[in-house]
Amino acid sequence: MDHETATVVLGNTRSIAVLHRSIHAILLWIYVATIAAMASGVHAQQPAAPPPVQAPPPPQLPPAPAPTPPYVNVTQVLAQAGDYSVFVGMMMETKSDEVFQRNANATQTGIAIFAPTDEAFQDKSTSRLLRGLTVQQKTSLVEYHALNSWVSLGDLQLANQNQTTTVATYNNGGGRYQLNLTANHGNVQIISGWTTANLTSTLYSQKPVSIFGINEVLLPDDIFGLPSPAPAPSPLSGAPVPSPSVALPPSASGPTSIGNTNSSPFSAIPSLSPLMIFLVIFKMIAHMHL
Ligand SMILES: *[C@@H]1O[C@H](CO)[C@@H](O)[C@H](O)[C@H]1NC(C)=O
Ligand SMILES: *[C@@H]1O[C@H](CO)[C@@H](O)[C@H](O)[C@H]1NC(C)=O
Ligand SMILES: *[C@@H]1O[C@H](CO)[C@@H](O)[C@H](O)[C@H]1NC(C)=O
Ligand SMILES: *[C@@H]1O[C@H](CO)[C@@H](O)[C@H](O)[C@H]1NC(C)=O
Ligand SMILES: *[C@@H]1O[C@H](CO)[C@@H](O)[C@H](O)[C@H]1NC(C)=O
Repeated sequence: MDHETATVVLGNTRSIAVLHRSIHAILLWIYVATIAAMASGVHAQQPAAPPPVQAPPPPQLPPAPAPTPPYVNVTQVLAQAGDYSVFVGMMMETKSDEVFQRNANATQTGIAIFAPTDEAFQDKSTSRLLRGLTVQQKTSLVEYHALNSWVSLGDLQLANQNQTTTVATYNNGGGRYQLNLTANHGNVQIISGWTTANLTSTLYSQKPVSIFGINEVLLPDDIFGLPSPAPAPSPLSGAPVPSPSVALPPSASGPTSIGNTNSSPFSAIPSLSPLMIFLVIFKMIAHMHL
């Protein structure tokens, strides 16, 4: 380099000064540009880190199907329990068995059924009230005995004057058809307009289906004409209880942690490359001008 410089410079000292100034200017520019590149490289590390996190998931994300709960034939559970033949007969007669089964099949919401025992139907005032029902009233009566979502016995044992809608609510052109659920000392009571039934057995209880035995027929004032006290003006109460959100598959957390560990080996590279670029550019310019 010294040799080349010497031959160029020999004749004209002014051109040497100009050349040195322009080399200084170029070197200063390269220095500033390199510092800027290194600074932006450092800053880029933070935004640059996420991509490895985001990149891996897409091919792995297709949702892992939640384990399907076992199919439960609700009519069969009641028929096999043996003590609920009147209620089962009414379910089939009104085709409410299909409505209940459709709810039971809808595993995100499910169903809770309160089935009165055969003995409960023998109560004199109950059988008198049930005598003259239309098909539509009978359908509503049966569907009044089920909730639009699964509840466990433990849930019911914590109930405290809970007002709840039923499958009959606003169904078949019907009205509110609400029940009150309450418990004291573990004894669960299902309260209708005319009766207070005790929950006497659990025939089936596994999310999303629970089937309980009760010792009174639930008799709604929507059919039997008890004056409805303080009509609750809340149509929203008919909305089913939201089901618990599906847990994320365990794989969802996997790529994130892998991505984080991947980002550290790369973090040294951006701080090296501006320096290498500087050296390469410096050599090129030095060769061009000298
Ligand atoms: C459910 O059980 C009832 C009573 O045993 C039976 O009549 C009906 O066919 C069953 N339904 C299905 C879909 O298996
Ligand atoms: C409920 O699911 C079972 C099993 O998949 C099916 O055989 C039956 O037809 C379904 N019933 C209703 C009412 O959706
Ligand atoms: C009863 O109501 C309470 C308070 O709104 C609620 O947390 C609970 O889940 C309800 N229980 C049942 C069985 O509806
Ligand atoms: C349910 O409880 C509410 C509030 O305590 C009450 O107004 C209503 O009459 C009760 N319904 C029945 C069917 O007992
Ligand atoms: C329900 O249980 C309560 C408390 O054990 C009892 O006093 C009441 O008589 C029972 N009702 C019926 C209809 O069995």
